Amino acid sequence: MCGIIGYIGKKQAAPILLDGLKRLEYRGYDSAGMATVSGGIILKKDAGKIGEINSKLDFLGLRGNIGIAHTRWATHGGVTKENAHPHFSNTREIAVVHNGIIENYQELREFLVSNGFTFYSETDTEVIPNLIEYFMRNRSFEDSVKETLKKLEGSYAIVVLNENENKLIAARKDSPLVVGIGDNEYFVASDIPAFLEHTKKVVYLYEKDLVVLDSDVRVFNLDKDSFVKRPISDIEWNLEQVKKGNFEHFMLKEITEQTETIRKAVENNGKLIKEVADLVKKAKGIYFVACGSSYHACLSASYKFSSVAGMHVNVALASEFSNFKDFIIPESLVIAVSQSGETADVLGAVRAAKEKGAKIISIVNVFGSSLTRESDSALMMNSGPEICVLSTKTYTSQLAILTLLAYAIAGKYEEGKRKLKDLINYIYYLTSASARHHIKKLSEKLKKKEHIYLIGRGLQYPTSLEAALKIKEVSYIHAEGFAGGELKHGTIALIEKGTPCIVFTSEKTEKEVLSNAAELKARGAYIIGVGARKNELFDFFIKVRESEEANSICQIIPIQILAYQLAMLRGCNPDKPRNLAKSVTVK
Ligand code: AGP
Repeated sequence: MCGIIGYIGKKQAAPILLDGLKRLEYRGYDSAGMATVSGGIILKKDAGKIGEINSKLDFLGLRGNIGIAHTRWATHGGVTKENAHPHFSNTREIAVVHNGIIENYQELREFLVSNGFTFYSETDTEVIPNLIEYFMRNRSFEDSVKETLKKLEGSYAIVVLNENENKLIAARKDSPLVVGIGDNEYFVASDIPAFLEHTKKVVYLYEKDLVVLDSDVRVFNLDKDSFVKRPISDIEWNLEQVKKGNFEHFMLKEITEQTETIRKAVENNGKLIKEVADLVKKAKGIYFVACGSSYHACLSASYKFSSVAGMHVNVALASEFSNFKDFIIPESLVIAVSQSGETADVLGAVRAAKEKGAKIISIVNVFGSSLTRESDSALMMNSGPEICVLSTKTYTSQLAILTLLAYAIAGKYEEGKRKLKDLINYIYYLTSASARHHIKKLSEKLKKKEHIYLIGRGLQYPTSLEAALKIKEVSYIHAEGFAGGELKHGTIALIEKGTPCIVFTSEKTEKEVLSNAAELKARGAYIIGVGARKNELFDFFIKVRESEEANSICQIIPIQILAYQLAMLRGCNPDKPRNLAKSVTVK
């Protein structure tokens, strides 16, 4: 889940690569490196954040109009200078940056060692430049890259630099890669924000595409074994959207953007949502597949499909889907939900379902992503780029679209739309400075806590799971969400004097969940109530008006803000939490 970028053109590559790398840092940030061609290949890399490494090594000192760079999320080999990318071939004629996992790297390594190659890192990636060098013993550069890719098993997005050729070669399989078309210059990167400053003209590379960038752009497909034409698309995003603006962090910026993103989710796609509703009604078996926050949105949808549309749906963690795929038939409908559209487990589940003949509908935020291409139709969320690793605005956008879908299935699309539109001004209040000020009092109380428990019943159960995830991801406090009814079956053993417990209430579930709150209080818990009505059981109360099916949208926002504030108070970086990355492109 690394970020890779390449540049070839008339300008100095290093400044462009450095800016691009910073815009890709949400993809991984434990080490970084850059290489350009000036005479031979000059390479600089180290462990640490890009800013720290740059002030130590001065990437801008690298000269040349062609170069590659990488920011890492370690999979194979520890976080060290040697394991950072780019990786050289033994003669240093070739350098490669890679995002993905080469599953057969040990076998390829043994083959290369037996052919006289030496390895300097623990990574899977280092086999790639050496294999290219091996094949270049009797092939051209391009043919050697093609030959190398045929030998690789697993996932890759790579960019290859050759000290003797004024060209870049890049390729992808199961990892995202997009080309930027500039004025006499070309960019290739894991994601569009990396070069959005320079061009809005992009070419999305398909599975097994290889692109050669020199004075032109030529795309070759390894499966078709021929050159192919790929369309040039114009990006609607603007640079401001990938900048923090007046906000200290993307997380807070994106939390406050929810007034706009929910409006966009509600106002677009009407025709397609109704078409999908018809598909859902005709299908024999509905399966939601997703990971992380998107999975919580699907779980929330299963409650709404039941309450609004009287429909049962299956919800599977994408990484567990293979255990249920035998129930998939050609009449089944799989709804895959993913902000990035590149999550490997979701793509794996979708491909398994397609093999069984199922129809695939996806709900995605990133245009041109693999999932949009591999779906029969894609409902775009139009939330704009989400840079913070944590999903906030895209989570509520998914909830809004799924709520609309439930109403459309029930033949009450306009009613659903009206209910969600009525929320928009209220969401403006929930993300406002005065709402944040109130929550700050709670953050101060909880900043030293090491455990927080969250309960909800019905629709509030998935909300408690998502709320726990937000707190865990960014403040590193152990937080656990669970269904209120499960409390007495074990977890209550963990409750002691002062243990903070967040209790989500609603008109439908208030009576039962307050009994749970009373059981917690009886063991000394500090009760934080989130809902429409205050109660004497609450030691702290966050008022969120009753919004029925839309409670899932309104009630998560105060906890997104709480998580952000806890991160700040505990000195954690809200945008780049440790050990995480925005898009999980490996299984
Ligand atoms: C949520 O804050 C995390 N970033 C993570 O759990 C995320 O939801 C998960 O990786 C799924 O990502 P996707 O929606 O891009 O598929």
